Amino acid sequence: MAQLWGGRFTKPTDEKVYAFNASINFDKRMLRQDICGSIAHARMLGKQGIIPAEDAEKIETGLKGIYEDVLNGKIEITEKYEDIHSFNESVLTDRIGDAGKRLHTGRSRNDQVALDMRMYVRGEICVTDSLLDDLLKVILDVMKANTDTYMPGFTHLQKAQPVTLAHHMGAYFEMFRRDRLRLSDIYKRMNECPLGAGALAGTTYPLDREFTANELGFDRPTANSMDSVSDRDYLIEYLDALSIIMMHLSRSCEEIITWNSNEYRFVDIDDTYSTGSSIMPQKKNPDIAELVRGKTGRVYGSLFGLLTTMKGIPLAYNKDMQEDKEGAYDAMDTANSCIDLYTGMLKSMKFNKETMEKSASGGFTNATDAADYLVVKGIPFRDAHGIVGRMVLECIDKGITIDEMSLEDLKALSPVIEEDFYTAVSIKTCVEKRSTKGAPGPEAMKEEIALCSEFIDKTPHLTDPLDKILK
Ligand code: ARG
Repeated sequence: MAQLWGGRFTKPTDEKVYAFNASINFDKRMLRQDICGSIAHARMLGKQGIIPAEDAEKIETGLKGIYEDVLNGKIEITEKYEDIHSFNESVLTDRIGDAGKRLHTGRSRNDQVALDMRMYVRGEICVTDSLLDDLLKVILDVMKANTDTYMPGFTHLQKAQPVTLAHHMGAYFEMFRRDRLRLSDIYKRMNECPLGAGALAGTTYPLDREFTANELGFDRPTANSMDSVSDRDYLIEYLDALSIIMMHLSRSCEEIITWNSNEYRFVDIDDTYSTGSSIMPQKKNPDIAELVRGKTGRVYGSLFGLLTTMKGIPLAYNKDMQEDKEGAYDAMDTANSCIDLYTGMLKSMKFNKETMEKSASGGFTNATDAADYLVVKGIPFRDAHGIVGRMVLECIDKGITIDEMSLEDLKALSPVIEEDFYTAVSIKTCVEKRSTKGAPGPEAMKEEIALCSEFIDKTPHLTDPLDKILK
């Protein structure tokens, strides 16, 4: 048991209590953040004359050495240490002696862990952002290649009006575009440095909080020391953003599963992204899409877990807050791998254009356009709606589509119908005439694609400042 405290205790911690209380098994993920934070703190202590400058240098070299040795396997982070902070300080002190013991001057594990977690989340936000950027590029490629791939647009999962695959995928582009913007908002709001808040009430040492904030790539130090050690809003916001991303992925996966079914056959998921059945030799299952859909619940669970943990915590730090980590790590790993896998699946997926178009032609997706045709010929829309309703009924009766009706039968429903009706209700015309901004018509789609390309080109990746401090 390597603990940073013990002076006021007369008996050792019970072993079960020690294990229950320890966080090393999961917070060891924050090794890099803890080392970087400690280096910045030591530099500041040296600069301010709070500790001797040579001790600050020894601490920095020592910490960098520990980081390298962990990475190349020379030392192992074990359960002997209570948490990652204890590990770094104990090993440092073993290696450099008294200078190591000076590192924690003017600092508490409360502001230390608040800092580490915030920097860890900042890094993960950058990872998610870059994965979403890759995904948006794949979606845009699908859009560009499918501006004239006609398919039914659905409401209530009933065929409604014809759209194109480009238009359908454009909806997902918008969702993931907003997700990137959301991440960037969170990044901006969270980029304040809690280091220097101490246990809860700051310290009596002349710390330079602007300096450490700047060293670690933050925009400024946090404003209130009690909030600094007990704020996990940024993490809740990130889990919320991940939940929304998962919801978007899950909606698309639900569609892909349907589209890949024997009944639809709109898409073929590539062999490399499908799995088989142990008993049914014919099966090729959309397991990846199902898993992404399924894992959504898990990410929501982490969000709700943390919201619930936080709701009863009085100011300032309480140990409950250690519970912010495992669920959050799991949510980040899950969501990031889901974005990655979904991107690969989409990239390799084959769209069966003919099947889609055939499906768009059935199911009366051109009924609105038939009514619009009558409106152009001077019939009030409500009457036109009624005429086409009877037209559809007649078609259902005869087992045909609107454009398969004879001109004679059409004229019997409304004498204004002429030969040009057939072109007016063709799927191609139906799509082409939808030219309002944001609609599937070719001109509108061209504009939309241009906006999407511009977003990709002009939206910079979020970057992790720690990449510059310590690789
Ligand atoms: N492992 C702790 C956590 O994750 C570190 C902070 C410990 N602070 C304390 N006062 N016990 O929250």
